[in-house]
Amino acid sequence: MSVNSLAVGSLYVSRSRSRRGVPPIRMTVRSNIVSVAPFLTKLQRDSATPLPVLRYVADAMTTDMRAGLATDGGSDLKMILSYVDCLPSGGKQERVIATEFEQVSIPQELMFGTSEELFDFIASGLANFAKKEGGKFHLPHGRIREIGFTFSFPVKQTSIDSGILIKWTKGFAVSGSAGRDVVACLNEAMERQGLDMRVSALVNDTVGTLAGARYWDDDVMVAVILGTGTNACYVERIDAIPKLRGPESFSGRTIVNTEWGAFSNGIPLTEYDRDMDAASINPGEQIFEKTISGMYLGEIARRVLLKMAEVGDLFGKSVPEKLSTPFALRTPDLCAMQQDNSDDLQSVGSILYNVVGAESSLSARKIVVEVSDAIVKRGGRLAGAGIVGILQKMEEDSRGLIFGKRTVVAMDGGLYEHYPQYRRYLKEAVTELLGLEISKNIVIEHSKDGSGIGAALLAATNSKYDHDY
Ligand code: GLC
Repeated sequence: MSVNSLAVGSLYVSRSRSRRGVPPIRMTVRSNIVSVAPFLTKLQRDSATPLPVLRYVADAMTTDMRAGLATDGGSDLKMILSYVDCLPSGGKQERVIATEFEQVSIPQELMFGTSEELFDFIASGLANFAKKEGGKFHLPHGRIREIGFTFSFPVKQTSIDSGILIKWTKGFAVSGSAGRDVVACLNEAMERQGLDMRVSALVNDTVGTLAGARYWDDDVMVAVILGTGTNACYVERIDAIPKLRGPESFSGRTIVNTEWGAFSNGIPLTEYDRDMDAASINPGEQIFEKTISGMYLGEIARRVLLKMAEVGDLFGKSVPEKLSTPFALRTPDLCAMQQDNSDDLQSVGSILYNVVGAESSLSARKIVVEVSDAIVKRGGRLAGAGIVGILQKMEEDSRGLIFGKRTVVAMDGGLYEHYPQYRRYLKEAVTELLGLEISKNIVIEHSKDGSGIGAALLAATNSKYDHDY
């Protein structure tokens, strides 16, 4: 089977970033100010992740995984079956012959629109992409292009090419999708666009990442996304999935999508996390995601800084008005501020000025960096504990096959890719938990290809046509 399905290339879709100009400086001026130092101390204390906390989280992740594998609804972790039981492997059946990449942002309003609008947007992006790619690969007349569809939300899969959305996450609230097969939604939208394409593999982004990374490296056993949202999947033995009774034809292993964003056990939370959760469109849900992923770290920091400016003296007597706007401060802003090594923290100052309209003293800038660091440190370390939770579950079931040899965890997502401090904290936590000897065997590395290639390879594997050209 060749990999002509790849001729459609990969289309990555991400949330749009709101554009931001330099805001006019507006602020409230108040009296009765107190020092911010106690707020910082309390934040650092409430968000601390010493080794016992990490250990508790890793063990709870293992326990919750087992409960989710035992029965549907048995734990916070859904442990979704991917129906991927045959992984691509370089040099065997599938071959990547070319890759083209295009990123399209989803306009903000479509996050709250109808399902038809969203899928029409995706299909039209695909149509534009196909038009540009059109000349490069030819299919025999009448042949339908088969595509891999990476859908980065929890889906109850009913087969490799069908599944029903369980719920929206990451701030999406699209109507009209309840109970609908997302593959049918996309196929219908593609038909409306007049596209000769059909989905032959539906995969979560973690599953696509694992499949893509596995193509290059047979030791990849786990894939983790740390981007706007977060999630992890891993290779599981069929006989370790009690809730799966059925197709004997399955080979011995399959990929399980944990949906670990919904994990909540033992996570150290602060008042700022609780307030952010209460104000979110999914209160009480996705607590791990809200503590460690890119969509939320900037917002947690904004809430801390707002309190420090309102009750304390962070920005002197003023409270910059923009600081009250939810999500005004984004995780990339925290990241940019943490890269400033200068004595006067000039970039921190200009980011605070440009993003939230704050005039800052050097001591205020230092506090802002410490606030960012506390939040990012907790995020990275908890993500590391989550990874160890998965690895130790696999190790318990297979004595030595994970910790006793080279095992690769494929990482993807903007937060992991672009935030060096986050990466460092994550790796430190893994080493603290596993010890030096074992952690030498655990390779945590950025996956070269993202989830699109993996999805395309799986589409090729699951092609409905037996072709070879
Ligand atoms: C959210 C989604 C999950 C996805 C993750 C990373 O947690 O629920 O399916 O894998 O974000 O994109």
